[in-house]
Amino acid sequence: MATYDLILENGTVWTPAGPVETSVAVQGEQVAGLGLSGDAGERVDCTGLLILPGVIDSQVHFREPGLEHKEDLESGSRAAVLGGVTAVFEMPNTNPNTDSAEAVADKFARARDRMWCDHAFYVGATSGNAERLAELERIPGTAGVKIFMGASTGDLLVSDDRELARVLASGHRRVSIHAEDEARMNERLGERVAGDPSSHPVWRDDESALRATKRILGLAHAAKRRVHVLHVTTPAELELLAQHKDIATCEVTPQHLTLAGEEAYPRLGTHAQMNPPIRSGAHRDGLWRWLNQGVVDIVGSDHAPHTKEEKAKPYPASPSGMPGVQTMLPLLLHHVAAGRLTMARLVDLTSAGPQRVWGLVGRGRIAAGYLADFSVVDPKARWTVTADRLASRAGWSPFEGMELTGRPVGTFVRGRQVMWEGQLAASAHGRPLHFEDTSFSGGRAHTG
Ligand code: DOR
Repeated sequence: MATYDLILENGTVWTPAGPVETSVAVQGEQVAGLGLSGDAGERVDCTGLLILPGVIDSQVHFREPGLEHKEDLESGSRAAVLGGVTAVFEMPNTNPNTDSAEAVADKFARARDRMWCDHAFYVGATSGNAERLAELERIPGTAGVKIFMGASTGDLLVSDDRELARVLASGHRRVSIHAEDEARMNERLGERVAGDPSSHPVWRDDESALRATKRILGLAHAAKRRVHVLHVTTPAELELLAQHKDIATCEVTPQHLTLAGEEAYPRLGTHAQMNPPIRSGAHRDGLWRWLNQGVVDIVGSDHAPHTKEEKAKPYPASPSGMPGVQTMLPLLLHHVAAGRLTMARLVDLTSAGPQRVWGLVGRGRIAAGYLADFSVVDPKARWTVTADRLASRAGWSPFEGMELTGRPVGTFVRGRQVMWEGQLAASAHGRPLHFEDTSFSGGRAHTG
């Protein structure tokens, strides 16, 4: 009889063919197979639970180096695995910015044996490093290049078409875009009302987002370069992006799918402030409409922690961004329970989608030979989001007090049980992700 390291049994496994009541056997870091019988070093009883492919959050800000009072790679990744996330792509607006080979190497060194989940780091585009990006994006474990077309937290910014064309001409991998039009936002600074964060989406209006997305699509076609538009907030952009699937993929966030400005700004004040902004209920409903048309490729959290003290500054001195890596999967499960989303689409948006968009090696599905990354969830559990459950150093969530149906129960990263019922493993062993585009740049792709 075969012996496996680990068998998850009695649960419902989300296979490429959909949900199957079977077991998953793990040998080393990989799935050995489904429904295999054998002995196991360890058995995990998943009665009543769903075993999903590991959730990949392809947009988080973990703030290290330089802004560790908000978050660091350890605390951010601890929040991730407590929320059922097995891998993250981390953003470059740190201090210093992650815009050089040295800065990327420094992040990987800091992450080793401190991050709880697997990870990739983005390289930030600047007008100063444009020519070097072709080389920087090939560093194994990087998620490619990120462009801020509009200024947000930090000073990364590439806003005019000539500079954007230089960045897009340098390299080949898909480029991630924060699409807000800097020139329009500068013209509209007077729209901000002191002390009133509900003016944030008036200042950074629909047209700011749509104009930037239109521009980047034009530039991407001209450069023959694939792009990924992050945190899309307007139905008009999704309508446009639906006409450009040859070259562009896109993301929406759980907060834009959950919060409506009419109620969020009065209730949450600056805690609802982020870029691009939380907009109206009609926008939120429009995002759902296009998501359910299949246009949206990925849901990412844009986990962007700031402390309560920072958020307490009066608008517009208050910083933009909200934590979310730990609440992403719970909110999506809640939307499934409420009938707004199917479980199949949740899996598509959180694992298969990131795998497809980014060409991740060995991830994104539960199948023999793939890495054994699992998010084990109880789709029926009811619970309330409270600050004491949250690991982010931010110490707050815009979803505090919300009663949710659906809860992450366990997180397995490459066969290792990292979290079960809120308890963490003894130590952190996250490793860099591997991408098809760079997997032959060094080492065997699978083994991290
Ligand atoms: O609201 C935001 N916060 N949007 C961004 O693009 C950046 C992020 C941050 O880093 O705080």
